[in-house]
Amino acid sequence: MKRLEGKSALVTGSARGIGRSFAQAYVNEGATVAIADINLERARATAAELGPNAYAVKMDVTDQASIDDAIAAVISQTGKLDILINNAALFDLAPIVDITRDSFERLFSINVAGTLFTLQAAARQMIRQGHGGKIINMASQAGRRGEALVGVYCATKAAVISLTQSAGLDLIKHGINVNAIAPGVVDGEHWDGVDAMFAQYENRPLGEKKRLVGQEVPFGRMGTADDLTGMAIFLASSESEYVVAQTYNVDGGNWMS
Ligand SMILES: NC(=O)c1ccc[n+]([C@@H]2O[C@H](COP(=O)([O-])OP(=O)(O)OC[C@H]3O[C@@H](n4cnc5c(N)ncnc54)[C@H](O)[C@@H]3O)[C@@H](O)[C@H]2O)c1
Repeated sequence: MKRLEGKSALVTGSARGIGRSFAQAYVNEGATVAIADINLERARATAAELGPNAYAVKMDVTDQASIDDAIAAVISQTGKLDILINNAALFDLAPIVDITRDSFERLFSINVAGTLFTLQAAARQMIRQGHGGKIINMASQAGRRGEALVGVYCATKAAVISLTQSAGLDLIKHGINVNAIAPGVVDGEHWDGVDAMFAQYENRPLGEKKRLVGQEVPFGRMGTADDLTGMAIFLASSESEYVVAQTYNVDGGNWMS
């Protein structure tokens, strides 16, 4: 028996990377999945690769009208919304004395306001439907403690952990489980960009930071997007009904809490 048979899911930022792997895993478990991304062309290509139970939706999580349109698109496609993954996010790097207001506002707008207001729109829809739902936010080990060069991103992910707690506590009375996943370092296009930024600020050759962070993981390597899908399926399934307002580390042992 597939664990998400007949469910309707929306995954933000799922044109590539971790979100794409979540969407693939949900389709494999029997769900129909909206590949919602600011990059519509890539979302379309991803949806086509995932098959008839995936469809592309243009979505900018910083724009309330776009959030509302994306939820409406899911309802028009499947008649309901059962699962949301707030996955879209942006990263930036700078020493504290060089952080710009533009970087701060961009990251908080996508990573925090995007997460909160997409969660809110999904929760309103789930409350109207009257049979609960599952909301999963993407946190990070970066939300567990600050890092010298990563001040703004770390703060956004700490905010995601806090919002997961508040929303989890508020929405469980409606049968909506809100939880989060905190990955460690996950290989892919995102980390290629992170590596290039560290190369610039720490004066390293390209690829060296990635190699070092991988070596430091107790498991012995960087994570892959597929390492996270088991937790994403669990948190979207009926097996996690009694799990409320938690953030789970899936990071090869990097962080314990
Ligand atoms: N990769 C890692 O090492 C790592 C570690 C910890 C946490 N995370 C978190 O996991 C999630 C996914 O990370 P990833 O590595 O797959 O990132 P990624 O950069 O590969 O993918 C992000 C996706 O979000 C989309 N996006 C960007 N802005 C958007 C917007 N305004 N509206 C809608 N979509 C938008 C992008 O087009 C892209 O498809 C993020 O929340 C990230 O913070 C990643």
